[in-house]
Amino acid sequence: MKTLIVFAGKYGSTKKAAHLLKDELSGEVSLVNLTEEKPPSLDAFDRVVIGGSIYAGFIRPEVRKFCRKNLEALTGKRLGLFVCCGLENKAEEQIKAVFPRELLSQAAATGYFGYEVNYDVMSFFDRIVMRLVSGQKENQFCLREENIKKFAAELE
Ligand SMILES: Cc1cc2nc3c(=O)[nH]c(=O)nc-3n(C[C@H](O)[C@H](O)[C@H](O)COP(=O)(O)O)c2cc1C
Repeated sequence: MKTLIVFAGKYGSTKKAAHLLKDELSGEVSLVNLTEEKPPSLDAFDRVVIGGSIYAGFIRPEVRKFCRKNLEALTGKRLGLFVCCGLENKAEEQIKAVFPRELLSQAAATGYFGYEVNYDVMSFFDRIVMRLVSGQKENQFCLREENIKKFAAELE
């Protein structure tokens, strides 16, 4: 069983979550950070996992582009979709809004992998927006390992 995990984030939490997922999956697993690399052909993979973080209601543009470009190639694959985002109570709603319905209807697993807020690495603009919206001044590291494990089990 060959699995491809493609992901895109901005400040590292999606990347961390994707690596945690890799450790939970059986077989050969390739990880591709869409912000740094071009994805390989999907032909060789039985399973594909697509994940990204959410900013102002939108998933990272690299993820949007990947989904749009590969709708056909993804047909028939065992598919997993995940997000990292701050609003846990809106996570399910956001997952439905940010992924194409063709992929949502085919997904064997969808998951909310938690979030991180790391002011030390954030741009000035994002820091201001985050402080205003969340009212939080402290860094937060809230990835949901239990959700990642559950997602991996559903995908197996
Ligand atoms: C400027 C900004 C806007 C954000 N907008 C949203 C949002 O609309 N919905 C949400 O649930 N989380 C939002 N978040 C939280 C991020 O999705 C969360 O911190 C995520 O873990 C970031 O992942 P990354 O480091 O991989 O980019 C926002 C964070 C920032 C800094």
